Amino acid sequence: MKKTFYITTPIYYPSGKFHIGSAYTTCLCDTLKRYKIQRGYDSYMLTGTDEHGLKIQQAAEKARKTPQQHVDDIARIAKDLWKKLGIQNDDFIRTTEPRHSRVVQAVFERLLRQDDIYLGEYSGSYCVECESYFTSTQLKEGNLCPDCGRPTQVVKEKTYFFRLSKYADRLLEFIDLHPDFITPETRKNEVVAFVKSGLNDLSVSRTAFDWGIQVPSDPKHVIYVWIDALTNYLTALGYGSEDPSLYEKYWVGGDEVVHVVGKDILRFHAVYWPMMLMALDVPIRFRLFAHGWYMMKDGKMSKSKGNVIYPEPLVERYGLDVFRYYIVRELPFGNDGIFTPEDFVSRVNTDLVNDLGNLLSRAVTMVNKYFGGTVRKTVHGHECRKFEIEMEELSTEVIRDYQNDMDQFKVPQALADISRLVAKTNKLIDETSPWALAKDPGLRPVLESVLYHLLEALRLTSILYIPVLIESHPVIFSALNVEPQFQTVDSLVFGKKTVYEVAKEPGHLFPRLDADKETAWIKSLMTGSPLKAEIPLKPEIVIDDFAKLDLRAGKVLSCAKHPNASKLLVMNIDTGDRVRQIVSGIAEIVAPEAMPNKTLIVVANLQPVKLRGVLSEGMILCGEKDGKPVLIELPSSLAAGTPIQ
Ligand code: MSP
Repeated sequence: MKKTFYITTPIYYPSGKFHIGSAYTTCLCDTLKRYKIQRGYDSYMLTGTDEHGLKIQQAAEKARKTPQQHVDDIARIAKDLWKKLGIQNDDFIRTTEPRHSRVVQAVFERLLRQDDIYLGEYSGSYCVECESYFTSTQLKEGNLCPDCGRPTQVVKEKTYFFRLSKYADRLLEFIDLHPDFITPETRKNEVVAFVKSGLNDLSVSRTAFDWGIQVPSDPKHVIYVWIDALTNYLTALGYGSEDPSLYEKYWVGGDEVVHVVGKDILRFHAVYWPMMLMALDVPIRFRLFAHGWYMMKDGKMSKSKGNVIYPEPLVERYGLDVFRYYIVRELPFGNDGIFTPEDFVSRVNTDLVNDLGNLLSRAVTMVNKYFGGTVRKTVHGHECRKFEIEMEELSTEVIRDYQNDMDQFKVPQALADISRLVAKTNKLIDETSPWALAKDPGLRPVLESVLYHLLEALRLTSILYIPVLIESHPVIFSALNVEPQFQTVDSLVFGKKTVYEVAKEPGHLFPRLDADKETAWIKSLMTGSPLKAEIPLKPEIVIDDFAKLDLRAGKVLSCAKHPNASKLLVMNIDTGDRVRQIVSGIAEIVAPEAMPNKTLIVVANLQPVKLRGVLSEGMILCGEKDGKPVLIELPSSLAAGTPIQ
């Protein structure tokens, strides 16, 4: 029976498009999954979207959508991107799916029955962005979040708590007994220090908002997003459902289970998640790999800084493999790395164009030129032995190192291992000068051996690149005419394929990038208006589509704060036909008392909708600057009800 491999990405909740940093985790997981498939594992990869919580609710309000519309959009954006990046996920879980919420509710109620969860009162500071509570001693000066530096909100409410403290010793013991549980070692040390510093019980429900899974026995509460989110790794496998077969196969009876996470969410996965599993009597089968972050020269990638770089334009301009290679090659194992256009161009030109691409084209061209396309492995005299032995030894060493590195998630090192073999092979050309050997008929056997060694090294290289270069490895195999049985890991032995009949042309791998031009182009993606890269033009419409909108001038008569949402205002607006109530997310830019008498553009035929419990009969139009809305005001001379067209 095949060994199994279950690999998961975190489930995502970006506010819009995914930047290269968020795409990183998924590309890394896909690479590892493809590697495991190659090694004969029955592999299963999970990704998905984290669709509940205050952050999502607020993002939806800002986008003037219902939370459901908002999360539907996020899920679609995510699925489209993973398809574009060649990601082979076996499932895509959304936390709003019934298969998930049903189980989360059952988990919560069970923990409540067992007294692992209890009702208490919470008073503290909450960071919406990080979805975390902090005590006053943890906060940065000015009551700022210690993790992201944003302002926190003081919250006092009844909440359910999970008894973390009960499981602290068991977790430390588990970590001690399983030295591989958390990789890299430095992250493990952070976790151990955190647990030893003493744990407060964890607040696991909220009453201040309602976009979440309800606690069945106390529906005022929604389940705090981490209990909801973490459980996805099991619900996707059918845990707690009528058909737990995947759970039994990949988790309980599985051989390897890996959660890959960014360093920012390590604590949730390394502390809260195993403790939840202990409380549920679910075996802790997973290992954690916490990776670092792609940063920019001026710090974190952020829309407001205008320094965000998205995967799509890079893939469209340079090709899928160039992007896939760069993203998993450049970020050092477990640490942060900086994205710069210069490094991108130089990485591609050095590793892919100069080293790999050139080697293939030189090798195929020479085999055609000197041997009519066919070379054989032969036994030669001692004049060949030195380079033959060196090439064979280095290949064996590189294959071994590569596999060791991949087994420990060290993808950048594994790719560097392949580069060693490619470099050595290029060097063989430089050192033996085949064009000089070709001039002497007596040296024909030496020339044939040199060329055979180039092809054999390229074949091995191509097998090793399969998990990353998903479009290019077939190009190499077909240029060398490598039969399927010589494309497998079992054939990763130097000398296994003994005859080569190469194609007439080496095929097209990677075009060289003009360093100045491409650096400037990538910079323009970053420094150009952040909106340019971020908001693709919607599909064209005809005038009849536009005519469906009923836009009118509206006079604000009165305005008040929304009772349940700090970012919303509730206005009464005269739109000529009647006075309507409109809710809008403009509270952070204008005070309610400044609104009366303003003349605004109202979408008057929009279906009414309730926003956080208050009816909104239409919407007002705004622009956006630095992530905040900007009111669009009309001249006050326009009477209420004037059509805008
Ligand atoms: N929804 C939570 C995870 C719940 S898992 C049960 C979440 N989502 S996220 O969309 O904010 O982040 C998803 C992943 O992207 C995280 O692993 C995060 O570390 C990773 N990254 C986000 N920005 C990144 C970079 N700039 N670089 C590398 N990875 C980054 O957290």
